[in-house]
Amino acid sequence: MSSKTILVTGSSGLIGSEAVEHFDRQGHAVVGIDNNMRREFFGAAGDTLWNLERLKAATKNFTHFAVDIRDRAALGELFGSRRFDLIVHCAAQPSHDKARDIPILDFEVNALGTVNLLEATRQHSPEAVFVLMSTNKVYGDAPNEVPLKELETRWEYARAEDFEGISENCRIDRTLHSLFGASKAAADLVAQEYGRYFKMNVGVFRGGCLTGPSHSGVELHGFLSYLVKCTVTGGKYKVFGYKAKQVRDNIHSHDVIRAFEEFAKNPRPGEVYNMGGGRENSVSMIEAIDLIQEKTGNRIQWTYKDEARKGDHICYISDLRKFQNHYPGWQITRSLNSILEEMVDAQKQHKSA
Ligand SMILES: NC(=O)c1ccc[n+]([C@@H]2O[C@H](COP(=O)([O-])OP(=O)(O)OC[C@H]3O[C@@H](n4cnc5c(N)ncnc54)[C@H](O)[C@@H]3O)[C@@H](O)[C@H]2O)c1
Repeated sequence: MSSKTILVTGSSGLIGSEAVEHFDRQGHAVVGIDNNMRREFFGAAGDTLWNLERLKAATKNFTHFAVDIRDRAALGELFGSRRFDLIVHCAAQPSHDKARDIPILDFEVNALGTVNLLEATRQHSPEAVFVLMSTNKVYGDAPNEVPLKELETRWEYARAEDFEGISENCRIDRTLHSLFGASKAAADLVAQEYGRYFKMNVGVFRGGCLTGPSHSGVELHGFLSYLVKCTVTGGKYKVFGYKAKQVRDNIHSHDVIRAFEEFAKNPRPGEVYNMGGGRENSVSMIEAIDLIQEKTGNRIQWTYKDEARKGDHICYISDLRKFQNHYPGWQITRSLNSILEEMVDAQKQHKSA
């Protein structure tokens, strides 16, 4: 890519900050917007200012604005002042449990904020590639209808044809989403529409568990990051339901951004892709606890409540074949093992800082 101007929303968050660093390293001009709303959602532990400071020190051509994506006037000003080639939209209220307490705010940020950005793009940078970080929660609890079998440490798909995991053909309506899943599904649909109806270069990526060292991990969001944090700092961890055998697939933020990069080179308007770690990077709760204990040498104090979170997936593995088929240049480069090691190191450094 020759030098481009790239907008990253949620630039102080896990995925946004990875995007900022990645594209800055390649010599592009990166504009980030983040109003540190994660702190408002999750309290001091969710504060992302440390990550913003880290980014400012680590980048060459990064400009940050504390703009709220709900603020259409501020977005109009920003989009009016420069033309963007790529927009990576990661700002969100990201927790389904939290959405229950703040349904209107959740919808305003996730759904309306997304329309605001899509429309600003259509008005000012209609040729730009627009990437929406969506979520597998748009499928609600429909993935739980896939027949499962119980193994010693995890739930597993019972039928051979489900081995690769959940594909984009899973339905997104007539299922229990949580309010977060519903606001993200609204954003996901509107984004598809800007691709299909307006023929803009929009891609929608439905994330599994996204991880990396730059997560401001809190109990309500970022399970691996929070689990590592509790193990390193001696905090307590609560597991909810499914005998602690629920399975998640984990993808490193670097591999997510690499997927966006491949899409941006050759966009397919309105396409939807599942984006997670796939089977190789899948792990159950019990397995994750064992692995992290092994890596840290600490024992984690965890308790179990035999009541699953509403709408929580029992076994979710992203079927990555559609994206790999459309973009053969992309693959998972970070194994679960290396993800965990990096997180443990980052947490230890954070603790001693
Ligand atoms: N982390 C995961 O496991 C996961 C899984 C699936 C999908 N996703 C999606 O990926 C995206 C990024 O997630 P993340 O893990 O990086 O979250 P994050 O909370 O680390 O980052 C989001 C950032 O957006 C900012 N923000 C929130 N509201 C804002 C607003 N109104 N205006 C400006 N900035 C605002 C926050 O301050 C935060 O820094 C989200 O859309 C999330 O739903 C995440």
